[in-house]
Amino acid sequence: MIRAPHAIFTLAGVGLLALTLAYGVRAQRAVADAPSLRSDAPTVDQRRPVRLLPMMAAHQKENMRDHLLAVQQIVAALAADDFAGIAKAAGRIGYSDAMAQMCTHMGAATPGFMEMALNFHRTADTIADAARNHDRSGVLTAINQTLQACTGCHAAFRQEVVDEATWKQMTSTVPSSGPPREP
Ligand code: HEC
Repeated sequence: MIRAPHAIFTLAGVGLLALTLAYGVRAQRAVADAPSLRSDAPTVDQRRPVRLLPMMAAHQKENMRDHLLAVQQIVAALAADDFAGIAKAAGRIGYSDAMAQMCTHMGAATPGFMEMALNFHRTADTIADAARNHDRSGVLTAINQTLQACTGCHAAFRQEVVDEATWKQMTSTVPSSGPPREP
């Protein structure tokens, strides 16, 4: 009986391995199917697709990881009562014309995306506003509201990589609104 726990661990290990393999196969199949993915394809993920070209999708995720880094830097500066540091880090996720242009481009095939994105950047601006007033609890409130904008968008949207032809078709049928698109 002394060996029993060992056996359980081994069993668990085999189970995990099987799961990992099964997932890997599914993920590979998903990649292989990607160019022909249709928006009405059945999926367990019920969020709306943000349709993007492969390069844009990679760029968006890179931006996202940097957004998370900015939030971490904001919290680090807050812990050190470094208000200038908070404002500087918050500036990286704040509103700018360049940021607005990029969000508009990212959302060109996805109605509603750009609005959420711009609302997020405007909300992030309130972190720097509070920091400039040395308002510690104001900074915390603004961080909370900003994180709500992050989680709200994540709850609504997921990426969907599309090919050039689909992108062209989507961006020519979706009416553009807001700031002008990149040339
Ligand atoms: C306007 C929409 C929107 C906002 C606002 C937003 N995100 Fe995202 N984010 C996305 C989408 C879409 C994805 C891709 C999700 C998917 O396909 O499952 C994503 C993915 C991510 C990822 C995963 C990146 C990777 O490499 O896979 C991180 C981390 C992330 N977001 C952090 C944040 C943080 C932190 C904030 C706020 C400070 C934020 N996001 C705000 C839309 C948004």
